[in-house]
Amino acid sequence: MKTRIAISVFLLICSCAYSQVRHETLLSDAWLFSADNGENWQSVTVPHDWAISGPFDKKWDLQTVAIEQNGEKVATEKSGRSGALPWIGAGVYKTQFFVPSSSERTILVFDGAMSEPQVYVNGQFVGSWAYGYNTFRLDVTSALKGSLKPNELEVRLNNVEESSRWYPGAGIYRPVKVISTNRTCIDEWSNFFRTLSVNKDEAVAQFSTKLIGCEGVEGLSLDIRVENENGYSVANEHLDVPEDGQVVTSMHIRSPHLWTPETPYLYKVIVRLFKNNDLIDETTLKTGLRTIRVSAEKGFELNGVSRKIKGVCLHHDLGPLGAELNKAALIRQIRLMKEMGADAIRTAHNMPSQWQMEICDSMGMMVMAESFDMWLYPKCKNGYARFFKEWSEKDITNLVLAHRNHPSIIMWSIGNEIPEQWSEEGRDIASRLQNLCHQLDPTRPVTQGMDRAEAALKSGFAQVMDVPGFNYRVHKYPKNMESLPQGFLLGSETASTVSSRGVYKFPVEVSNEKVYTDGQCSSYDTEYCSWSNLPEDDFIAQDDLPYTIGQFVWTGFDYLGEPTPYDGYWPSRSSYFGICDLAGLPKDRYYLYRSIWNESEHTIHLLPHWTWPDRKGKVVPVFCYTDYPEAELFVNGKSQGRIAKNAAEKMDRYRLRWNHVVYEPGELKVIVYDKNGQPAGEKRILTAKKPTSLKLEADRSLLAADGNDIAFVTVSLVDEDGTLIPNADDALQFFVSGEGRFQAACNGDATSLEPFTLPHMKLFNGQLVVLVRTTHTPGDITLRIEDAKRHISASLTLQSK
Ligand code: GAL
Repeated sequence: MKTRIAISVFLLICSCAYSQVRHETLLSDAWLFSADNGENWQSVTVPHDWAISGPFDKKWDLQTVAIEQNGEKVATEKSGRSGALPWIGAGVYKTQFFVPSSSERTILVFDGAMSEPQVYVNGQFVGSWAYGYNTFRLDVTSALKGSLKPNELEVRLNNVEESSRWYPGAGIYRPVKVISTNRTCIDEWSNFFRTLSVNKDEAVAQFSTKLIGCEGVEGLSLDIRVENENGYSVANEHLDVPEDGQVVTSMHIRSPHLWTPETPYLYKVIVRLFKNNDLIDETTLKTGLRTIRVSAEKGFELNGVSRKIKGVCLHHDLGPLGAELNKAALIRQIRLMKEMGADAIRTAHNMPSQWQMEICDSMGMMVMAESFDMWLYPKCKNGYARFFKEWSEKDITNLVLAHRNHPSIIMWSIGNEIPEQWSEEGRDIASRLQNLCHQLDPTRPVTQGMDRAEAALKSGFAQVMDVPGFNYRVHKYPKNMESLPQGFLLGSETASTVSSRGVYKFPVEVSNEKVYTDGQCSSYDTEYCSWSNLPEDDFIAQDDLPYTIGQFVWTGFDYLGEPTPYDGYWPSRSSYFGICDLAGLPKDRYYLYRSIWNESEHTIHLLPHWTWPDRKGKVVPVFCYTDYPEAELFVNGKSQGRIAKNAAEKMDRYRLRWNHVVYEPGELKVIVYDKNGQPAGEKRILTAKKPTSLKLEADRSLLAADGNDIAFVTVSLVDEDGTLIPNADDALQFFVSGEGRFQAACNGDATSLEPFTLPHMKLFNGQLVVLVRTTHTPGDITLRIEDAKRHISASLTLQSK
């Protein structure tokens, strides 16, 4: 083990980003992890989730509870509520790091550690944090050994049972950095660049900061340079630094490129600190120029242009990676949501990671950055309520300071469905937390998601918020508005429609709390929960009620835990709410949102599949999700009627439905017509023949040889025409050779107990996704997949550079 540490330390020294004045190292490659308090150690890389390999087991998180938020009064047995993975318990991580001889101040920056991290450097306790989701910094200068001596870092974590309503993950699941500077230096979290006004000729921005260690130091000056994407300086300021280290200046940028989700233009703000003309520190932040406003007259405005937010809620887990943060996985999520036409995400119900926000900045995705799922009143026995009193202000402070330069963040959220909505104490806490956000960041409005409209309006809880956010219960919006002085409202959480990819139930009916013996929900998108609704209800509220400023759909992707409506049904262990499944494969619902939200591309999507050997002569309703107003459907060339959307009927306003189609094998075809009645496109689906091959499609075939990049390969069992075999559940085996390794597989089946991290898995409705990870060495990577039952195999070669 000692040799391994020595090698790792050597690598670590080599990977240090030594610049002249500030030294920043990502501690990623050389960690040891123990799940038994130091008896046994395993080498791991950070980010790391110790629980994601499983095995899935009901025993890990079995509970007898009444879920109050779901309206339950009587306690019943719940399984899979937090993912049925072994995340509960203690874990210890250790590594070593060096600091350069010139360093006078060293901090550790954790982007999040699950949970209750206690940090030790060279055996000395240097600090802790309570919440697993927040970023925190520790000044460890006084605990360090001299330069070029290894410093031992140890992080102890503890996850207690019933502390989460979903899978929280376990371990140091986000990055850790060491930053060494001079004693007098720039504080990155004090740097604040904000846009004051924009028009096409000029943007006016303000830069402020508070430098550290300036007392008694003379000759300090600060240079602030704004660079455009081509590296040209577009604004520059040089200022003397007073002894209190406080600096504020305004900057004028001519012909600005404004940040929007459609044009995510980023500027660099380079801050240099000099002492008597010698550079002593330097930081760079990437940011955007844009303004935000919410008002009764114009709703939500970005750069003075009103728009309704088309958002999705996202939990932090990344499906088969668990909570382990990975850039490629985050980018894939945002890309899929953007292609659907979404322009915003809500980080439900906790603080986002820096990487996720950087990706939202650069790809163009607005963000509601959330903080808490509970305050004082617990939603689960050992949740954040244990910490709220002592920690909530520290948590909000870190959230805002660490993230306020991200142009993507358009509002802060101080809570989700906080039980204190009905009380005056709750209203006062809401004001206090909102004021704290304002104090740290006067540029963004503050919101929260409320689920008890009447109570929140009666106590004044809703009225104090900059942006009153309501979860579900769309029918109450008009009534809510009567008591809202703000003059607008946000659908902070909407829909919670449930479905399983590729599963279709008959007869097709709109229903809530419907359950079946197989633990699946219907992909006809007609099922929801007692508190929730169909996508249509939200579309109508957004289209018809001028005071709505947008919505955040629950959820963009399925997540681990909360298997409603199967909380008591084993083996369900992940959600059904996603627009995409846990593997990131779009469900039919994806195309319903796309047909309305994606205004730059057309959508023509038909459902269900057309392979129903047991339903010959029986009714199989057919839906088409399209932005076109009208279409004609054909079964084997026979018209099933030409129909148009009908705004007077909820279910026919956004979908085209043929409810009485009698199934016969062959070809299902739709021809869509534009608003002038002209044919504009078509879509065909065929009845599947015998399976002949595995189709492998990688989301990217050129990867980075950095040991972290991941290709997501979609595997489909198809017939000779390429038609998906819709019910196939063949067991597949995965072999990765060359400069890559098998990371995980996921089939999106919420009832599957196959571990994600073993190189075999069954198809779910003909498909699954394999994650292939690069090594640090460039070269080819080959993924070979075998289907032993059918004697079929297929391979795909990726390139890592
Ligand atoms: C909401 C809650 C979410 C999730 C959702 C499921 O009430 O805010 O966290 O539980 O219900 O429909």
